[in-house]
Amino acid sequence: MAKFKILPAKKLSGVIPVYGAKNAAIKMIAGSLLLKGETILDNIPDILDIQKIIRILEKLGVSFHRDGHRLKISTQNLRPGDPDPKLVSEIRASVVLVGPLLSRFSSVNLPHPGGCTIGQRPIDRHLQAFRHLGADVDETKGYYHFQMPETIKNRPVKVKFSEISVTATENVLLFGALQERLIEIENAALEPEVIDLIEFLKKAGVEISLNGRRMAIRGRRNLSPVKHRVIPDRIEAGTFAILAAATKSSLKIIGLIPEHLENLLDKFQKMGVQFERGGDFLYIKKSPRLKALDIATAPFPGFPTDLQPPMGVLLTQAAGISRLKENIFSNRLEYLGELQKMGARIKISSSREAKIYGPKELNGDKIESLDLRAGATLLIAGLTAKYGETVINHAENIDRGYEKIEERLQNIGANIQRVQ
Ligand code: EPZ
Repeated sequence: MAKFKILPAKKLSGVIPVYGAKNAAIKMIAGSLLLKGETILDNIPDILDIQKIIRILEKLGVSFHRDGHRLKISTQNLRPGDPDPKLVSEIRASVVLVGPLLSRFSSVNLPHPGGCTIGQRPIDRHLQAFRHLGADVDETKGYYHFQMPETIKNRPVKVKFSEISVTATENVLLFGALQERLIEIENAALEPEVIDLIEFLKKAGVEISLNGRRMAIRGRRNLSPVKHRVIPDRIEAGTFAILAAATKSSLKIIGLIPEHLENLLDKFQKMGVQFERGGDFLYIKKSPRLKALDIATAPFPGFPTDLQPPMGVLLTQAAGISRLKENIFSNRLEYLGELQKMGARIKISSSREAKIYGPKELNGDKIESLDLRAGATLLIAGLTAKYGETVINHAENIDRGYEKIEERLQNIGANIQRVQ
């Protein structure tokens, strides 16, 4: 088990680049299953979750060539088959393989997809959507079986989500891409990663129109090869911005799209975090005094659940009482227990709500990176601590989503080492 060791450092400074969006890249790699020629994807981060989805597709005959952040994908030797159950159970995003595999081969079987321990993560919205699309869906002995009967294939259909789901919306888009019938979605997710997937599919020849949370998709049996540059990772960008604000550093974060972070920037303004924004950068300046704030997570364009944990650290440095409300996942406040160990004053009233009393100096301690975003959060906490060494166990949780994180942090002055 690898760990990160962090020592208090002088202020961080300089420039930190943002890499491509994990949650867009994975869906486009799944989307390559729909295309017969070569898919070329740029800005693909080299992280564990991407390596796992690649491994799953390799086992189905897909070949990959990586050159830096460029990934070339050939599906010439793709054969019908089910994704490797062990790998599927290790990565939640593997659920988006159902759409392309079902559309291409009319059947697919897989176990419950794994992922972070941030609460119950059922896939009932996916199952219901595929049933609306005409698939027979069964669940036996921990496996889901999807079968698309020949007779139903051409019927136009409307999928109405009672609650928004990012990957369920993406699954329907990926499924619809190869279908010549009209598929409409109501109450679709509009996260920038979903919009980027739509751009990718449009380049392949799929007709997709958007009207608020309504989408209409008309696919084609033969899609064209695609070359696409994945959007920058807004969660990584936001994490670095929060790191700068929490450590009272002056930091330029480059290669991002500020419009994807409007909600965070609005909160920054209200808290007194000083920043400048440009076309593709954010410059966070040292802010004299931060004010407490209430945060409630919501689907995009609301405050992103993936930035709730990093924001929790920043709020320990803000004067007054801040309230956190996690509306997306049922168990995403566990990292607060680790912040308490480091000296933060926090009252956790339920698995979804907490109050943070600040400002409070944090001290280094031995802490657990409980999942991907909580892990990145504790890096921020360790770098914010005034005294003592911070040891974060399970560095691999952080490697799932952040490429060469210690190198990028060392380059801006952080005293961080990876140890075995
Ligand atoms: C995506 O997860 C992201 N993952 C998550 O990022 C992100 O936090 C989340 O969207 C919200 O933005 C990927 O894109 C791979 P949902 P997803 O379906 O699609 C419940 C990260 O760290 N729900 O929108 O799984 C669900 O339990 C990850 O990068 C059902 O009840 O999220 C949750 O409470 C973490 N039944 C809520 O809906 C379902 O069938 C929203 O989930 C599906 C979801």
